[in-house]
Amino acid sequence: MTLEAKKVVKGYRQGTISIEVLKELDLSISSGEIVAILGQSGSGKSTLMALLAGLDRPDKGEIWIDGSSLGEMGEHALTEFRAGRIGIVFQQYHLMSHLTALENVMLPLELLGRKQPRQKALVLLERVGLGDRVTHFPYQLSGGECQRVAIARALVTQPALLLADEPSGSLDAKTGQEVMALFFELMAEKEMTTILVTHNATLANLCHRQFLLSDGQLQSYAALTTG
Ligand SMILES: Nc1ncnc2c1ncn2[C@@H]1O[C@H](COP(=O)(O)OP(=O)(O)O)[C@@H](O)[C@H]1O
Ligand SMILES: [Mg+2]
Repeated sequence: MTLEAKKVVKGYRQGTISIEVLKELDLSISSGEIVAILGQSGSGKSTLMALLAGLDRPDKGEIWIDGSSLGEMGEHALTEFRAGRIGIVFQQYHLMSHLTALENVMLPLELLGRKQPRQKALVLLERVGLGDRVTHFPYQLSGGECQRVAIARALVTQPALLLADEPSGSLDAKTGQEVMALFFELMAEKEMTTILVTHNATLANLCHRQFLLSDGQLQSYAALTTG
């Protein structure tokens, strides 16, 4: 799945103060590419991910996924498009607290009316090492386990585009490493266009291309030296 953003502008207004976060940002990603986005806290990484996911709309500019303009889709079409084609992993796992691990992973399949949701969800939970935790609720799981459920939920629909916003950001160093090792393992198995927001240069270097979000725009740069 290809992804294209042209002159994307996004700002927020808080009372009389308005801040421009993204300033005519351009981005072009080929099918199957794995791209890292780095940038200081507050530089607009999550804002950009929300726009690419169609969770929010730019003030100006346009975003195309596989040639389809997100701006031309109505809310309903956009929701359907997102559910069927895009997998999203956030820093905070955003699991449904009243659903078990299994039910959380089954949910997107059920919403899409896909066949055999239970079976597919079980396969993926097994794959992320949670085969013995399927009836646990989020509060009964550790942070790392919750994030693995969230990764399973994002991948269970076999999305063509995966958006991951600091997926190890809430985890301790060791757990974060384990989750990210799994994340890259799963990505290698699927052929997904992936955008990974991360603070970690080592993880960024595992991606095909690296971008820095700074002053509202993306700049491409060569892999960092991490010693
Ligand atoms: N809903 C919002 N309302 C007002 N300001 C916001 C909102 N979301 C983000 N911002 C501001 O936009 C800037 C970029 O935020 P964000 O995209 O979350 O950055 P990052 O993910 O890179 O840390 C920050 O200065 C933040 O305070
Ligand atoms: Mg963020």
